[in-house]
Amino acid sequence: MINIILFGPPGSGKGTQAENLIEKFNLKQISTGDLFRYNIKNETELGKAAKSFIDKGELVPDKITIDMLIEEVKKPTDSSGFIFDGFPRTVAQTEVLEKIVKDVLNAPINICLALVVDDEILVQRLLKRGKTSGRTDDSNEEIIRNRIKEYYTKTAEVAELYKQQGKYVEVNGVGEISEISEKLFNEVKKIS
Ligand code: C5P
Ligand code: MG
Repeated sequence: MINIILFGPPGSGKGTQAENLIEKFNLKQISTGDLFRYNIKNETELGKAAKSFIDKGELVPDKITIDMLIEEVKKPTDSSGFIFDGFPRTVAQTEVLEKIVKDVLNAPINICLALVVDDEILVQRLLKRGKTSGRTDDSNEEIIRNRIKEYYTKTAEVAELYKQQGKYVEVNGVGEISEISEKLFNEVKKIS
């Protein structure tokens, strides 16, 4: 089993690269952002609780996000491991993830793969995506910049935890999608 955290700021290409990684290594993607959007679309209680935070470009409170993640990890799967896309986004989420993979999957997080992209490129990418994504949080620059700010204030410190464990690897997230995928594949092959 191989468990990957796909890390990086909003717009760094986590969702795009997760698609290629799941196919290459037979993994299951858990995107907490996608799960929130599914719940918002279906007007569930969870969706209602998360919507106001997401619309402002803020992180949803840990308790809500963590409970949702645990449910997802517990679901049976035939895959050879997981890709966590957009989770963990706080140190508290990281601690829970470490515990849940150990308790439920009896396996560690093997690698934290970080996509590195300059902030101004992130803003341009997200504004462009907003034209077709229908995502409220991609629709204006102020919200986008707030999401990037949330990343630096609450999420970036997660990287330190994986650096300390020697599991943190950065990949340049600017360039051809397929070239970036190859670099990510190589990093995964090194550890599997
Ligand atoms: O991962 P993604 O960029 O799709 O997430 C969209 C939004 O969902 C984030 O901006 C944030 O409001 C919320 N979210 C969160 N905590 C996570 C993942 C997503 O609060 N771990
Ligand atoms: Mg995404």
